[in-house]
Amino acid sequence: MRADPPDPGKLLPIAVPPSRRVSLVWSATGLSAIATAMNDRLTLRRPDDWHLHLRDGAMLAGVLPETARHFARAIIMPNLVPPVVTAADAEAYRDRIVAALPAGARFEPLMTLYLTETTDPADVRRAAANAIVRAVKLYPAGATTNSASGVRDLTRVLPVLETMAEIGLPLCVHGEVTDSEVDIFDREAVFLDRVLAPLRDSLPDLRVVMEHVTTGEGIAYVRGEPAATMGATITAHHLIIDRNHILVGGIKPHYYCLPVAKRAIHRAALIDAATSGDPRFFLGTDSAPHTDALKEAACGCAGCFTATNALSCLAEVFDRAGSLDRLEGFASLHGPAFYRLPANEETVTLVRGAPVAYPPKIDTGDGPVTLFDPGFPLHWHVEESTSR
Ligand code: NCD
Ligand code: ZN
Repeated sequence: MRADPPDPGKLLPIAVPPSRRVSLVWSATGLSAIATAMNDRLTLRRPDDWHLHLRDGAMLAGVLPETARHFARAIIMPNLVPPVVTAADAEAYRDRIVAALPAGARFEPLMTLYLTETTDPADVRRAAANAIVRAVKLYPAGATTNSASGVRDLTRVLPVLETMAEIGLPLCVHGEVTDSEVDIFDREAVFLDRVLAPLRDSLPDLRVVMEHVTTGEGIAYVRGEPAATMGATITAHHLIIDRNHILVGGIKPHYYCLPVAKRAIHRAALIDAATSGDPRFFLGTDSAPHTDALKEAACGCAGCFTATNALSCLAEVFDRAGSLDRLEGFASLHGPAFYRLPANEETVTLVRGAPVAYPPKIDTGDGPVTLFDPGFPLHWHVEESTSR
């Protein structure tokens, strides 16, 4: 049976990515497409970054403005040398970050403690009660940059974890085993079985964030857990690169980070999770600056620097997935909900237009830091920040 043509002038939305969405108008001459300018603008509550490395000193001063320009808050990783271990360390580091902010910037650092086998549960309890820290970070010893002071034996930190479960303070985990016999591409999946699942069985009330999840196995695990106690951050760069980007045609040190990017099939699982609207998944850029001298070396440091273009990268990924309507959830709503904080009242507006020209590097007092290159043009740029 043939459907009657709709009333003249009636708008028929069609299922295409919102930025390219057109409205079809039935007129005397048939269907015609009218592009709606609104679809090239996207206003979101101001995003937060739930996993960020800011470093210290000259590097901090160089990279902080890049994050503060677009993000309202960030969970600040504690892997300095020496690490941020006590509440007093976190307070002092927070003060250094605030002092390094550009004049007029409104940015709130949310501090974390680096869990060690000598961390004092009473210190953690006090720091959480005073809102000095918002999470504790578990680095398996040796897993990544500056993780030598990390945990070797989880039973030794059980009193701290029990305290955190009691007070609702999230544990952010770097989810990779470090055993030398485990292939680097399998270290996340093995961590789920050997460490995360047993930990959650023994402390089901502990609120855990699987940081920078990179595998389909990680996504499936998180999806199977309650949203009240299990979340995961996803970086912008893991939505864009797979391991071919690092290795094919010559080694690309600026794509090397930890956990290392996996096969394309895993990247597809990450995109699916990020764009699904599932509140367990939220943005943590893991923007991790290292100078070019340290990246472009015989033994190059792990970390991608994305603070400057993370939002443009994300908008492009969500646009291509036809899910721009879910970007606000991922970048601005799910993270605060997990951390039991209000969403930001301010907004940012992304505008689609000619490709944005980001500088290939930023200068810091420590030396140049190369910005993540997504390998495709970025059409969405961040226009403005306004009150809502
Ligand atoms: C981070 C860094 O450089 O501090 N590097 C990285 O590759 N992501 C550490 C980390 O988060 O693993
Ligand atoms: Zn990190």
